[in-house]
Formats: sequence, C-alpha cells, structure tokens
Amino acid sequence: MTMNQFVLRPYRGADEGALITLWNATLTHDRINAATFRTKVLLDPNFQPAGLLMAEADGALFGFVLSLTRQTPLFLQGLEPDVGWITAFGVHPERRRQGIGRALFDAVLGRFAALGRQRVLISPYTPNYFIPGVDVTAYPEAIAFLEAAGWRSVSQPISMQADLIGFCIPQEIVALAERLTTEDICVRGVQAADLPALMPFIAQTFGWDWYRFAQEYLSELFGRGSDEICFLVAEQGGQIVGYCQARRERFGPFGVIPEARGRGIGRLLLFVCLSEMLAKGFHCAWFLWTGQDAARLYALAGFRQVRQFAVMRRDL
Ligand SMILES: CC(C)(COP(=O)(O)OP(=O)(O)OC[C@H]1O[C@@H](n2cnc3c(N)ncnc32)[C@H](O)[C@@H]1OP(=O)(O)O)[C@@H](O)C(=O)NCCC(=O)NCCS
Repeated sequence: MTMNQFVLRPYRGADEGALITLWNATLTHDRINAATFRTKVLLDPNFQPAGLLMAEADGALFGFVLSLTRQTPLFLQGLEPDVGWITAFGVHPERRRQGIGRALFDAVLGRFAALGRQRVLISPYTPNYFIPGVDVTAYPEAIAFLEAAGWRSVSQPISMQADLIGFCIPQEIVALAERLTTEDICVRGVQAADLPALMPFIAQTFGWDWYRFAQEYLSELFGRGSDEICFLVAEQGGQIVGYCQARRERFGPFGVIPEARGRGIGRLLLFVCLSEMLAKGFHCAWFLWTGQDAARLYALAGFRQVRQFAVMRRDL
C-alpha cells in the first residue's frame, strides 16, 4: 500500500536494527535493546509480521505500529476473538504531522476489522505489554493523536517506586503481624510443599496472567535456584489466603482472596516483601501498574507515583 511517498509494509527480519533505533528515538521513556525485542516481540506466540507494520521511504524506516491478536490462548483464557491490542507505535520526530501515524493506524485498524475485532486497546496485552497504556506525561503527542482519531481513555493506571534505603518494618506492622498470629494467620516464604495448593489458588483467584507470572518466578526459584526472587504466602489455618512476589527491584503482583481482605494481610505481605528485598541488596522497589485505590496502600510503604498512563480504547 502506498501513501503519498510512503510505503507501508510488514516487518522483515532484516529490519531489526533500524526498527530498534526508531523505537528508541520515538518511545524515549521505554527504550529497548535487541534481547528485549527478540524475547518480547519476535518470540511472542502471537507475533505476526503483518501485525508489525512499518512505514518506509527511500529505504529508511520512519514509523511503526506493533499490533497483536491472540493466535494461541493464554492458558484457559481463550482467544479473546473480539479484541486487538496495540502495544507500541511511533513516528520519527522529524517526520511527524505528515500523516504517517494516521496511515499506519488506518491500516492496522483495517486489518483488525478484517480479523473480526470489535475493540482495540492500547496497550494492556498479556503477557508481553511494555507499558499499561500511553504515558500521559512522556507522550502528550500520542494522546493528542489518539483523541483526534476517536480513541478514549478507559482507565488511568499508575506506576510507583519506593526508595528502600533505611526501610524498616514499622512498629504498627509488627503489632499487626502479632494480632494476625492470634487469628492463626501468618506470612512466610513459599515452600515446595505449597505448590500443589498454591498454583490452582492463583489461577482460580487471580486468573491466568497472574498464574503465568507466578509460574515464571517459581520456576526460577525451584528450578535452577535464584536469590533474586522473594515469594511469600499468607496462610490462615493452613489454607493459603494470599501471596506476594518480587524479582530484583520489580515488586508484584500481590493479592489476597476477597473474603480475607480488609484485615491487613496485604499490608503485611507488602512490608515483609520490601524488607526481604532490601536484605537481598536491592535499594529500590518499583512496579508498572496499579489503580488509585491500591496506591494508598503502597504510599504507606513509601511508594510514590512515577508515571501515569491512559489505557486507550477504540471500538470498530
Ligand atoms: C503519536 C505519533 C505516532 C503521531 O504520529 P504522526 O505521524 O505525527 O501523526 P499524524 O501526522 O498522522 O497525525 C494525525 C492527526 O493526529 C493529531 N495529532 C498528531 N500529533 C499531534 C500533536 N502533537 N498535537 C495535536 N494533534 C496531533 C492531528 O489531528 C493530526 O492531524 P493533522 O496533522 O491533520 O492536524 C507521534 O507523535 C509519535 O511518534 N510520538 C512518540 C511516540 C509515542 O508517543 N508513542 C506512543 C506511546 S504508547
């Protein structure tokens, strides 16, 4: 397809270096290297070259959109046949406002429509999203571009970070742990003996994406072994009621079953995990995605907001 002087075409293997350079010039707050590109894009089971559309002129790349539809189900989550995702896009700073972005999006949305998709989301695609949505501070042009094309913001997740230097479990959390002990609730490191109950617990309570994430960390922990992983379970009367995971500085996810919420179990998991992270030598903790409600809990542990996203949606 030719748009004025531009050609839109699918990704080819030889584009890798030029595409990464373009990606890093456009997605300035979400730069990647070849290893990330290969593992999170090329080796994603849902990757199709036709979904990674390139805008080319005179043999050089000026724009791209990475779009996905499920080719394989995420465990039992199904193929989600009415949804398409866009996880990254950009037009070279010197070639903006020339209609390249619009041409790329028209082509991608046309492909989604031909594939029977009814709605498109930027960019909560599991497992290989890069950021939850458009970073409203880093990429104001993208917000303007999308709003002009009829996209709307459907949620506003935030990313937070905490400095762990000098982090201590406060006295009130120590008292909370003691109180929970009297209710037969404790927080402790995961053991292999937990796995038969833990894995179905995670899948049933929190869904297949959290299962996949836990499986990845636990495979490292119980496989070749890792001192970079913290994995805690909360137990009440011998039953698992919650868990928490972290790898290096990246915290989460963590969760407590709905029936056991509101009693401080999540708070205890969070503080114990942060304390273990510091003891492993990690000086900060961060995560990419939470809502405003959980943000209050995180703030108690010293987290502050570092990024604000807009999950964008467009119905076809
Ligand atoms: C968002 C982006 C891809 C737009 O690409 P582009 O090729 O400049 O977009 P187009 O020229 O096709 O713009 C189409 C319409 O969108 C709107 N638009 C685009 N950029 C805009 C801006 N900076 N301010 C206001 N409106 C804008 C306009 O309505 C424009 O039409 P017009 O030029 O006729 O007024 C580009 O700004 C970019 O690469 N930004 C950085 C990367 C990024 O933020 N990616 C998303 C991260 S999740």
